[in-house]
Amino acid sequence: MKILVTGGTGYIGSHTVVELQNKGFEVIVVDALFNSGADVSGKIGKITGTKPTLEIFDLCDREKTADFFKRHHDVKGIIHFAAHKAVGESVEAPLKYYRNNLGSLINVMQGMMDNNIRNIVFSSSCTVYGQADEMPVSESAPIKKAESPYGNTKQISEEIISDTVNTGKLKSIALRYFNPIGAHETGLIGELPIGVPSNLVPFITQTAIGLREQIRVFGSDYNTPDGTAIRDYIHVVDLAKAHVVAIDRMINKKMKNDFEVFNLGTGNGYSVLDVINSFEKVSGLKLNCKIVGRRAGDIEKVWANPDFSNKELGWKAERNLDEMVASAWKWEQELRKRPEK
Ligand code: NAD
Ligand code: WQD
Repeated sequence: MKILVTGGTGYIGSHTVVELQNKGFEVIVVDALFNSGADVSGKIGKITGTKPTLEIFDLCDREKTADFFKRHHDVKGIIHFAAHKAVGESVEAPLKYYRNNLGSLINVMQGMMDNNIRNIVFSSSCTVYGQADEMPVSESAPIKKAESPYGNTKQISEEIISDTVNTGKLKSIALRYFNPIGAHETGLIGELPIGVPSNLVPFITQTAIGLREQIRVFGSDYNTPDGTAIRDYIHVVDLAKAHVVAIDRMINKKMKNDFEVFNLGTGNGYSVLDVINSFEKVSGLKLNCKIVGRRAGDIEKVWANPDFSNKELGWKAERNLDEMVASAWKWEQELRKRPEK
């Protein structure tokens, strides 16, 4: 059974390809390598024994995307990861984000319509909830006005998908990720931030390895037990496994609606200091930290209510915070050993 994974050499995509191959799916990856390297498909091959086919092109290119679908009209399902994802950059360059994130989705869905491909899993984000009024956040929580162009592309994408599903020609599952962190247990694949990372865990591991001098804790005056902001961190391998469940649910016609939305989180909220303490515990290192002011645009706290996903998908995140952080640290150490990186 052939599955197309767009953005499959990226962080979450690569872990998902591994899990799909482990379950016997044939995977074809399309990636423009905007934020990843072609070597990732070889690393996946080392883990699973099968190097996935990789086609390198920009899904915003209508003709190339249409041609791809003509050649691969036997694809049974698509997992669409391909997108730009840096929140701060999206504020500086909104059109880059709207063009890429919406253009690629439209071209992929056009390819589906033209070739009778019915199933698409979409990478959405907890960012669609903004600062939710109630914790934990369930799927029925209102969608708040997006805080960034990036967040808006996720909201608009969900609307584009919903409208297209209404034609009766395709079905979709949108997965709203909370905060994915960690890496594969082999240390062969993981997150590869280009330049200075804006996310907490890559910043921690890069500080520990000596690439950054100090980790800044953004805000200690939030209304939380230790004053630092709270998030629902989820291990990328747990997240990847949920995609296999979603694809199986679509292909084996277990969906209850033609467009379904699921939260992917653990249901546990951890503060910035919890993450730093966990890192110091699992690594045995002391981090150079400094508490500074709040980061613009940050929300105080968010964590998922994963009950609906747990029940409907029969999926549950299994790895705890220490395991997440330890795997991220292993990945960082392996990465810096490699001459090619
Ligand atoms: P990533 O940058 O590691 O992977 C995305 C991949 O898509 C990259 O390899 C990039 O080269 C590719 N890509 C981007 N635009 C493309 C295009 N037009 N054509 C072909 N390839 C293209 O990001 P990730 O963390 O793996 O995120 C995957 C998806 O999950 C994204 O849609 C992201 O918005 C979403 N998401 C990520 C997070 C997170 O914290 N990482 C949280 C919520 C949602
Ligand atoms: C986590 C916490 C920071 C860095 C982002 C996107 C979101 C989603 C996931 C895609 C916050 C604090 C961070 C640092 C710090 N992505 N922090 N020092 O902002 O929750 O979510 O990634 O959909 O849309 O916004 O993640 O890892 O940047 O921050 O204190 O150097 O760590 O203030 O409280 P965030 P993050």
